[in-house]
Amino acid sequence: MIIEELPENAARIVREWRRDGKTICLVPTMGYFHEGHLSLMKHGLQLADKVIVSLFVNPTQFGANEDLSVYPQDLEGDCHKAERTGVDLLFCPAASAVYREKHQTVVSVKDVSNRLCGLNRPGHFDGVATIVTKLFNMFSPEFALFGEKDYQQLVVIKTMVSDLDMPVTVKGVPTIREHDGLAMSSRNSYLDPEERAIAPVLYETLNDIRTSFKTKKTPAAVLPLVEKAKAKITRFTQCSVDYLEVFDERDLSPAEVISENCRAAGAIRINGKVRLIDNLSMK
Ligand code: PAF
Repeated sequence: MIIEELPENAARIVREWRRDGKTICLVPTMGYFHEGHLSLMKHGLQLADKVIVSLFVNPTQFGANEDLSVYPQDLEGDCHKAERTGVDLLFCPAASAVYREKHQTVVSVKDVSNRLCGLNRPGHFDGVATIVTKLFNMFSPEFALFGEKDYQQLVVIKTMVSDLDMPVTVKGVPTIREHDGLAMSSRNSYLDPEERAIAPVLYETLNDIRTSFKTKKTPAAVLPLVEKAKAKITRFTQCSVDYLEVFDERDLSPAEVISENCRAAGAIRINGKVRLIDNLSMK
């Protein structure tokens, strides 16, 4: 596996691969790899001849009061995991090489960025859309893979690619879960044992909504199901709900009645500090 920090060197290597007729899949990440990341890499290896993994904790997608300075990192461990998985190039640039002096361009995907997580994290998806655009421009991949765990991010990027005619196929890869249902996330490392024991409640409530929908003979109204789910979460005094919603998974528009095209998603905070997100298709 090649490890490269400089964008121009990484881009040159990828241009040579393309000249040799190889297809390219990009897996953008912020590192601290878990099974979810490895699953993205394995999907990439099935899709294309060469897999590039970018590892960059992108400062522009963190708000002023967020966890940029403490975001978990383990470059050495990540290199081993990526190499063992069969990744061809690990691109791990410094922030100064990505955002050069006087950088002033922002890519903003309007409507789908300003709902759900976007309401609590203003500017977050602009940061994501901007870095992903830069990575697409550096490497011109045929494919790019993103985890369905960040479902809104996936819709933001698919919308951007469609609106701006970007020549890349974006695919979502299913969420990988712990044995008790908790979606794998680098941020799970912030949880102490008591918080970790509570954390699966988010998945459980999303699953409750799905089960109610599946067992109802008549259309399932969203509001009572969401209220019940919120009550189940806040019975833990440590938990607060940022949002819990059911929406049309194609454009994130809110749903009043659940259908197969819907997805339930939520963000909760445990002890005010750890923010967890998850979502589940109603199919
Ligand atoms: O999902 C992530 O890890 C990040 O938001 C991404 C897509 C790598 C952009 O920084």
